[in-house]
Amino acid sequence: MSDNNVQIFDTTLRDGEQVPGCKLNTKQKLVIAEQLENLGVDVIEAGFPVSSPGDFKSVEEISKLIKHTTVCGLTRAVENDIKVAAEALKYAKYPRIHTGIGTSASHIKYKFNSNQDAILERAFEAVKFAKSFVNDVEFYAEDAGRTDNEFLARVCEMAIKAGATVLNIPDTTGYCLPSEYGAKIKYLKENVKGIEKAILSCHCHNDLGLATANSIEGVINGARQIECTINGIGERAGNTALEEVVMVLKQHPYLNLDTNIKTPHLYGISQLVSESMGIYTQPNKAIVGANAFAHSSGIHQDGMIKNRETYEIINPKDVGVTDSAIVLTARSGRAALAYRAKNVGYELTKLQLDDVYANFLNFADQKKEVNDHDIHQIIETSKVYQQIISA
Ligand code: KIV
Ligand code: ZN
Repeated sequence: MSDNNVQIFDTTLRDGEQVPGCKLNTKQKLVIAEQLENLGVDVIEAGFPVSSPGDFKSVEEISKLIKHTTVCGLTRAVENDIKVAAEALKYAKYPRIHTGIGTSASHIKYKFNSNQDAILERAFEAVKFAKSFVNDVEFYAEDAGRTDNEFLARVCEMAIKAGATVLNIPDTTGYCLPSEYGAKIKYLKENVKGIEKAILSCHCHNDLGLATANSIEGVINGARQIECTINGIGERAGNTALEEVVMVLKQHPYLNLDTNIKTPHLYGISQLVSESMGIYTQPNKAIVGANAFAHSSGIHQDGMIKNRETYEIINPKDVGVTDSAIVLTARSGRAALAYRAKNVGYELTKLQLDDVYANFLNFADQKKEVNDHDIHQIIETSKVYQQIISA
């Protein structure tokens, strides 16, 4: 891995699957895991093995199936969780145990009724115990976003001392501003003893709509892994969307950060995840939403027809979308109508277009969107139809 490579850790099958109302069976999870490997993710978090026999089985089956990608299982800082995760991962070619504990003042007080020294001790013991099963151990400091930086640095040092290879800094509640989250990563890079032995990982939730921005700030400030899900699916407002962070890095090459993701697979896997989970993405969702490459205003359509780059910063083919769409509505102009008419076989002169356009506006005022079939009908009922077809 080069210094500029950002590892993509996909947690669609673990954190993503915590979304209310979604339950994937093992067969569906295997199909998604295989497509995640084809997409080029570096790590698949396959589940939380101790949580249920179904989750255990899914992690075990995914471990058998996946050939080149690291397969990871989540645990709490609890010996039995770690033992069970190691058992579920035993067939993985590249197993990783992801263990950790809450580190913010509120987690320490309310969840554990404990104190900082005891948390440091538990972090150390959990990583050490996980290391007795696998070499690749990731430690998470839950609610790191609201954890005091000095204490967080001490927790990270403990985890590194016990052998952690990755330090996950979750903004569990989606609270941080991008500048705060970036500063936190920078602080850890500069203040944790032994930090060169581990990579820092961003795990951002989207409660304030900042998950993508925070993850990008994290890698700009030195993190080298992003934890994310397809379509940004996940508990509450969801996780960082994989397709968003990957395309941000790709579209801003001067950041000099890249990933191993084969971006033309993005749209297909987005559809697969949304259909399998029965959770549909909003039409205006960045990168994979139905309208992400659809142009509806007349001014935009005119620009698009002259040159795609006037209104698109991404070539739709780069993310697996066949083409941009010029959507015909009552707000469309003559250029868009002529373009769509040509696509369905009518080359209109300027005068013919004027006539058909008047017909089109009457039609479009009654119908939200004009499709290819409607275009035939509009042209057939125009005064210049005979002229058009005999040309
Ligand atoms: O959001 C979070 O803190 C998590 C951890 C369990 C990694 O998902
Ligand atoms: Zn999470």
